[in-house]
Amino acid sequence: MRKRLSKILVTGGAGFIGSEFVRLAVQRSYKVIVVDKLTYAGDLKRLGNIKGKYNFYKTDIRNKNEIASIFNKEKPDVIVHFAAETHVDRSIQDASQFIETNIIGTHTLLEASKDFGIKRFIHISTDEVYGEIKKGKFSENSLLNPGNPYSASKVSSDLFVKAYIRTYKFPAIIVRPSNNYGPWQYPEKLIPVVIFKASHNEKVPVYGRGLNRREWLYVKDCAEGILTVLKKGAIAETYNLGSGEESPNIDTVGKILKVLGKRDDLIQFVKDRPGHDYRYALDYYKIRKLGWRPKVDLEKGIKETVEWYQQNTAWLENKVKMLRKYWESVYVS
Ligand SMILES: NC(=O)c1ccc[n+]([C@@H]2O[C@H](COP(=O)([O-])OP(=O)(O)OC[C@H]3O[C@@H](n4cnc5c(N)ncnc54)[C@H](O)[C@@H]3O)[C@@H](O)[C@H]2O)c1
Repeated sequence: MRKRLSKILVTGGAGFIGSEFVRLAVQRSYKVIVVDKLTYAGDLKRLGNIKGKYNFYKTDIRNKNEIASIFNKEKPDVIVHFAAETHVDRSIQDASQFIETNIIGTHTLLEASKDFGIKRFIHISTDEVYGEIKKGKFSENSLLNPGNPYSASKVSSDLFVKAYIRTYKFPAIIVRPSNNYGPWQYPEKLIPVVIFKASHNEKVPVYGRGLNRREWLYVKDCAEGILTVLKKGAIAETYNLGSGEESPNIDTVGKILKVLGKRDDLIQFVKDRPGHDYRYALDYYKIRKLGWRPKVDLEKGIKETVEWYQQNTAWLENKVKMLRKYWESVYVS
């Protein structure tokens, strides 16, 4: 069967979620082009098992000329835009690169995509744009109320996308996933940090008292959700992409320790992240109406994730070598 939107250009396709999406799209016989600057967070090893099945350009999304020439050469039907600076703690230390990539980079891509006449632009946003919510859930129409520099930069890029939809009838769709976890996640994020530290019997840092709550979405479910929006989503709409798997950090850490057969006394409470959002929770009824459902619950997802890291210790240890100093700067008693 011929697909109408068969050629996808993925920005940030060497990153954690982007690479999962690229693997899925290749498996579903889409033609895929990856554009990635390969920052500290990007790694083509994530695409090792589909080598030769996608075209790759090492490019910064802020480089409009290069982006325009890639568009003209490859003639994609769709852009799925993952490329971003993504770690909240780093944005608190210095937000300048977040402004460069997440705001200026997104604007550059929007301009290039508009000039080229792209058929669809899927903008990957985040649940963090809504800020924290003590009770209830965010709908797609909730107020955008960012609580840290990372989410402020993501709100800003969302607003540019919305403005392009209205001003230029630009064919964009926004997707807002909740916290992702799974294989290949860079060990600056909670779950791989815990897996590494606990496996090595090192103290496991937990911010504050571990009471902050997150909604955990398995990365394979996230990639399927984004592909569902690409195929069935309506232009100009926004889709929350959640899982309903809400868990306080301390319980999430406890689940990982249990799978690893480690004791809770490895946990060390450290100074809380400034401005730490207490809770995120999404109403994702709208994407469920497109036929998508999360398939992997937190318990199964954590088990699979731990197993993956246990089978890929070389990759994890290599990353951690470059992270020790950084960890010392964020996890302080
Ligand atoms: N990880 C999560 O839990 C989560 C949750 C919701 C939304 N998101 C969003 O999903 C997207 C992907 O997140 P992730 O966790 O996979 O990120 P990641 O940090 O693992 O990967 C980001 C990728 O973007 C690339 N990149 C960064 N700056 C670039 C630039 N200027 N030009 C080209 N490429 C550049 C990096 O090299 C890397 O490959 C982001 O937009 C993020 O905001 C992430």
